[in-house]
Amino acid sequence: MKPPAVPALEARGIKKRYGALEVLKGIDIEARTGDVISIIGTSGSGKSTLLRCLNLLELPDEGAIRLHGEEMRLKRQRNGGLGAADADQISRLRANLGFVFQNFNLWPHMTVLENIIEAPMTVLGLKKADAIARAEALLLKVGMADKARSYPMMLSGGQQQRAAIARTLAMEPKIILFDEPTSALDPEMVGEVLNVIHALADEGRTMLLVTHEMRFARNVSTHTLFLDAGRIEEQGPPEQIFDNPNSQRCRSFMASQNVQSRELHV
Ligand SMILES: Nc1ncnc2c1ncn2[C@@H]1O[C@H](COP(=O)(O)OP(=O)(O)OP(=O)(O)O)[C@@H](O)[C@H]1O
Ligand SMILES: [Mg+2]
Repeated sequence: MKPPAVPALEARGIKKRYGALEVLKGIDIEARTGDVISIIGTSGSGKSTLLRCLNLLELPDEGAIRLHGEEMRLKRQRNGGLGAADADQISRLRANLGFVFQNFNLWPHMTVLENIIEAPMTVLGLKKADAIARAEALLLKVGMADKARSYPMMLSGGQQQRAAIARTLAMEPKIILFDEPTSALDPEMVGEVLNVIHALADEGRTMLLVTHEMRFARNVSTHTLFLDAGRIEEQGPPEQIFDNPNSQRCRSFMASQNVQSRELHV
């Protein structure tokens, strides 16, 4: 028998608290190359905090994170939480984790092209001409080739998010984390961004996706986590989680989502 492949991303026992509030109570996640893991749950259940802990935008209080088997070297800080033990190692590993934000987070004073070439030049050391060639290819891929010289404020939300996805891809991350990439968009722009994410899934990219787009999550993911009050209450294939969940909390969450989506279509 072949030994099991090393997971692309593995997190064990992730805990995070803000003051008295324990937001993550010990989360284990494993993503294999090509997995698309959707993370769903009620507002405040800890979905964003979890994604932010995985790429150390927030430092977890407890837990271990491995990328392709290499553990992020963290050490206990004076304040009791964890911090980088080896800043170079952490920034090298973090460069493998792309992050797409709800509010795009494009730099407003830079054109789309400048937004995309900045990190590949400064972090990866790409020559400007190579960074531009990479950016142009990515803009073509996300349907934004004609907007390279536009500033973010000149673009629609859907266009800004597609530019932000191109910026993330320009770093050639091994794993992409999406935190509600369509929830700041007007409804008519949701589809164009979901199409781009779907195309990335079809390419076999490894992705973790926090979303309230239930139908999309069901279609695109290979595995679904239902988070409730800082714990994984249920996980499994999307067909199980969306259509036939075992846990009562997951059942009532799904029922409330169905009511909402019916209301949206009235
Ligand atoms: N920086 C912070 N300081 C204090 N509390 C925080 C902080 N960030 C998040 N929280 C709290 O942690 C809990 C989980 O927040 P989180 O943003 O992870 O939820 P979520 O599942 O992403 O919710 P939503 O679906 O609304 O985005 C919430 O109660 C939130 O108020
Ligand atoms: Mg959130």
